[in-house]
Amino acid sequence: MEDRKPRLLLGVTGCIAAYKSVELLRFLQKASAEVRVVMTESATEFVGPATFEALTGAPVGTGLFRSAVDPIPHIALAEWCDGFVIAPCTANVMAKLAHGIADDLLTSTALACMAPLMVAPAMNVHMYENAATQANLALLKERGLYIIEPDSGYLACGDVGPGRLPEPAELAQRVMALVQESLAGELAHAEAVQDLADAKVVITAGPTREPIDEVRYLSNYSSGKMGYSLAEAARDRGAAVTLVSGPVSLSCPEGVERVMVTTAQEMLEATMEAAQDAAIVICTAAVADYRPAQVADHKLKKGQDDEALSRLQLVENPDILKTVAQAAGSDQTVVGFAAETDSVVDYGREKLAAKGADLIVANEVGPQKGFGQDTNEVTLISAQGEQSLPSMPKRQLADVIFDAILELRG
Ligand code: CTP
Repeated sequence: MEDRKPRLLLGVTGCIAAYKSVELLRFLQKASAEVRVVMTESATEFVGPATFEALTGAPVGTGLFRSAVDPIPHIALAEWCDGFVIAPCTANVMAKLAHGIADDLLTSTALACMAPLMVAPAMNVHMYENAATQANLALLKERGLYIIEPDSGYLACGDVGPGRLPEPAELAQRVMALVQESLAGELAHAEAVQDLADAKVVITAGPTREPIDEVRYLSNYSSGKMGYSLAEAARDRGAAVTLVSGPVSLSCPEGVERVMVTTAQEMLEATMEAAQDAAIVICTAAVADYRPAQVADHKLKKGQDDEALSRLQLVENPDILKTVAQAAGSDQTVVGFAAETDSVVDYGREKLAAKGADLIVANEVGPQKGFGQDTNEVTLISAQGEQSLPSMPKRQLADVIFDAILELRG
């Protein structure tokens, strides 16, 4: 890919927050993006296309016909952009996106767009919480669209709750991070050396869920992003990849074999099976360390099951990384992660020894770090020494980790 500014398409829909799109556009431009704008007819009731045309220096389209953008504007724009962000996105447009309705320039472009699609819903709290909107949102997430959740607070209509478009500066930052990550991935894909050709790579990812009863479970905040990024990187370098994944909202990367599991026990079985003929096994999953000793066959109820509800008996789960490392042959490389809230490197070193891994990727986790984020800052720890890396997109980090693994394998 040639060296150029990231190209972003900004979709504006008919919502009072449309005025924030003007500021968002300015922040994206300041962050070095080249931006073009598409609007729905309703959006033009809130902000005039002339504002966006003046700021972008490009025509702003709303319709599919007699367009000043291109004879076939939805295809031209879909192919032009590296990312498409719809902010604000109304409930109506979200419903259209979820059901493949393409009756104007914005929705037709979204349907034709192969680049990452980012959607920032903004609307009245009751519209947002409506089951239909939530179902559409779930569908979009499942398909791998990137949803920028609305903020909570006073809404234009006077109601209070979720539905507010996040502040433009924060929105711009998140959009740029995602587009840069995607571009880095594309670049890596285009240029990837096939240094894992013929190798089998097994990766565990996401959280596990440990049932308490029919309706409850123990789990954690893992998003699975790091494991999925590693799977993409390994695939791009020519590996045959098996991704053993706990419940996450990410879609399976193309060309990767995915085995979905729920509990730690299931993850152990799937991983041990896949690991038999693997060259590299990487455990990124945030496995629940303990599970309820007994799973109730009915919903535990207050008044009836107080003893069971107030004193959950837990038993330790199998350690997947340790089990894989113990069974590994000398030609197999086993890698673990160490998610810590403090003394990251010390605990990482301890885990390298305790688990018998060849490499530990140690990272700090907390409310704004590690889990669910698009970037990660880690230290690589092996018997050879330590290497602290700067914060970088997870997809880029994935390649650095494979470089380190290949160096260890000699
Ligand atoms: N891991 C695993 N199976 C477990 C627990 C952890 O495979 N039952 C793996 C993780 O995938 C990760 C590494 O072990 O690669 C370290 O996980 P982490 O949660 O940081 O450490 P724990 O071993 O769970 O120890 P602690 O929670 O006490 O820090």
